[in-house]
Amino acid sequence: MKRGSEIYSDFCMSCHLPAGEGVAEVFPPLAKSDYLMQKRKESIQAIKYGLKGKIIVNGQEYNGNMSALGLADDEVADVMNYITNSWGNENDKMVTEEEVAKIEK
Ligand code: HEC
Repeated sequence: MKRGSEIYSDFCMSCHLPAGEGVAEVFPPLAKSDYLMQKRKESIQAIKYGLKGKIIVNGQEYNGNMSALGLADDEVADVMNYITNSWGNENDKMVTEEEVAKIEK
């Protein structure tokens, strides 16, 4: 969690903002994001490999581009655990490095 929060500050905060609120129509929110909380695999894929094209987050359409951030699998797991357990999000099944390693593009 602690390392995840550092990774978040370094790599994610510039777009998704300090409280995960995002920027309407440009950067989707992570706080209370139905996408993040319900699409676990897709979210890991997004962080690991990048994400572009149309997605719907909390009923709002986004058609942006997030590039791959070059994180190692354990860093992806740490940041996932941070964002899925912050700002009102709760995730009882922690993401592990092994789980991230198995997810392909
Ligand atoms: C340069 C800006 C930028 C940075 C940096 C960035 N993102 Fe994103 N992120 C986006 C955009 C834009 C989308 C939506 C892409 C689309 O429309 O297909 C997105 C989508 C997402 C999603 C899926 C949608 C949602 O809101 O639940 C997750 C999860 C996510 N980002 C997590 C992260 C994490 C974790 C980091 C840091 C490791 C990060 N992002 C860094 C711009 C960024």
